[in-house]
This record gives sequence, structure tokens and C-alpha cells, in this order.
Amino acid sequence: MSSSLMVSSSAGASIGVAVPVSAADIVLTGDRPTGRLHLGHYAGSLQTRLALQGRCAQTVLVADLQALTDNAGRPAHVAAHVREVVSDYLAVGLDPAQTTIAVQSRLPALAELTVLYLNLVSVARLERNPTVGAEIEMRAFARDIPAGFLTYPVSQAADITGFRATIVPVGEDQLPMVELSNEIVRRVNRLAGDAALPESRAMLSPVPRLPGVDGRKASKSLGNAISLSATPDEVRRSVMAMYTDPGHARVSDPGRVEGNVVFAYLDAFDPAAGEVAELKRAYARGGLGDVTLKRRLIGVLEALLEPIRARRAALGATPGLIDDVIAAGTAAARSRTEAALATVREAFALDR
Ligand code: TRP
Repeated sequence: MSSSLMVSSSAGASIGVAVPVSAADIVLTGDRPTGRLHLGHYAGSLQTRLALQGRCAQTVLVADLQALTDNAGRPAHVAAHVREVVSDYLAVGLDPAQTTIAVQSRLPALAELTVLYLNLVSVARLERNPTVGAEIEMRAFARDIPAGFLTYPVSQAADITGFRATIVPVGEDQLPMVELSNEIVRRVNRLAGDAALPESRAMLSPVPRLPGVDGRKASKSLGNAISLSATPDEVRRSVMAMYTDPGHARVSDPGRVEGNVVFAYLDAFDPAAGEVAELKRAYARGGLGDVTLKRRLIGVLEALLEPIRARRAALGATPGLIDDVIAAGTAAARSRTEAALATVREAFALDR
């Protein structure tokens, strides 16, 4: 049985997403713990996870091993962000009773699956991964690409199959990972002689990638993203500095909506889509000022972020809560990943 679903954010914004999920589906997503989560994560994936929560089995993996593939020089930074990311999950409303929250490095079955899968993938195939290629360029690894970095998509295939995931909600950049995972699944199944592992399908976020406040790609290193834990003052300053339309010098001038960061954020977070459409028309005609729009956006973001801040503050009142959530989620995940590993070991004739 599959059904359609409306995603509702805590701000009340409603984005209509037709998500065909059945109670039998298994959902897996992950984040690299390299920084606090920001509004781009909220629009792109947290909202989808909230909508899926309770509808089928769902695991969220804090992918610290994957983070180390390009952060080997700063392990303490990665380690510290495991707890921060889990705090962000709870603050936005992920409920550990309904969504399993687990830490990748504490699931040794995933590492063993990776080692087995490495035999099923050629180096040339890994080098053709467009997302990895773009990341290599961005990080200027040149010829010093860590072997772990080139092979992280294989470890991600271990994540996906280790949970026997059938749905992987991700951004477009992650499509090559799901594709590779399915190639590996087919090879394992050929070895096993039956459908030992399920293939998974990517579920694309309904919201286009949110730009950074300067109009460039939102990134932690560029410092152009608005963190979910930003203070009201930080939110106000970020919005006031947002890139709009440099040609819109006077309020009476016609303005450009395309490429205008304020409208990108209103589209993602303003619950009143009809009003936003009207504002776009007024802006394009001329006569609507940037400051008026920015004030509206500040209000919209505060309505979203205030409850998140409050929940995060409440978490702080229970010492050990985050560690307990991680321990319980990881324990549940351990037996699941060990079962998947047993299946794959069998396909490789290891326990005969
Ligand atoms: N590569 C993903 C990212 O950078 C994170 C991730 C790790 C992931 N393991 C995963 C996503 C498994 C989906 C499924 O955002």
C-alpha cells in the first residue's frame, strides 16, 4: 500500500510532496558531522525526515567515518560534531522513539561490508563518480587524494545495504551514490544466487538546493549558511546581508526575482505561498523594497527557528540525554547491520 504525504514543517509551511512510501519501506539517510546543521539541511533533508517519521522504519546515520575521509587531520572536530548533529536532530523534532539515530563508526559491520564491497567495484568506476570528482576539485587534493575519499561511495553503499534500506531521501548530488549502491547489490545478489539484498531508490527533495546568503552554494567553509542554532541577532544580520538584485537600486525600480536569495528562502520557508507569489509580481513590477521583503523573511525564519532553539535549550537541561540517544540507537542499529553482514558474508562463501 503506498500513500501520498504532505510535508509540514514546524513553521507550518506546507510543501506538497508526493512521497510513495509504504509501512514496509526502510528509510536511511546520513549526515557528515563536520559542522552544525543549517537551514539548507532543514529544507533539503530534515523536513523530509520529519514527514517520514512514524510512517515506516527510518534510520539517520551520523556518518563520522565518512567525515574522516576528508578530515583525517582534525578528528577531534569530527568527534565533537557527532553530538552537535544529534542535538540538531532532536531540536528539529526527530524523535528517537520513532527514528533510529546511530553513529557510523560504532557499527563495525558497516566497515566489514565496505571491505567486501571493495572487491566488486573497479577504481575506474570510482573515478567516474561525478560528485566525488567535483569534491576532489573543490578540496584541491590534486594527486594526494586519500584512498578512503575515493572509496567513500562504497562505504555509503555499506550504510544503505547494512540497513536493507529501500528508500534513500537525498539531494541530487547523492544520486551517483545510490546508483553505485544498486550496482553492488546486483553483484552481491548474483554471487548469492538470490535476492539477498534489496535495491533502493533515491527520493529527491522537493525543494531546490537552498543558496547561501551571498548567492553562492551554501557551505560551512564559506560561512554563508544560517545555522539552525543561530541567534535572532545572527538571523537578522544574515538576512539583511542577503544578496538580492544589484540592479534594484531604488524601491521604484523593477527587481529580479530569479537568483534573488530572499525569494529563494521565502519559497523554502514562507507558509503563505500565495502571498509570496504576489510579492514576486510586485517586486518585478517595481515599488517593493528589499528591506520590506527582508523583514518578512526574518519573521518567517524566527517562527521556524524559535521552537528549535527552545527544544535545544531544553535538551541541555538533561545531562547525558544525547549520549543515551546515541547508545540506544546504535545498539538497535548494530543487530540490523550484523544481520545484513551475515547475508553478505554468506554470498562471499565466508562461513562455510
Ligand atoms: N554522503 C552524504 C552527504 O554528504 C552523507 C551520507 C553518509 C549518507 N551515509 C549515507 C546519505 C547514507 C544517505 C545514505 O550528505
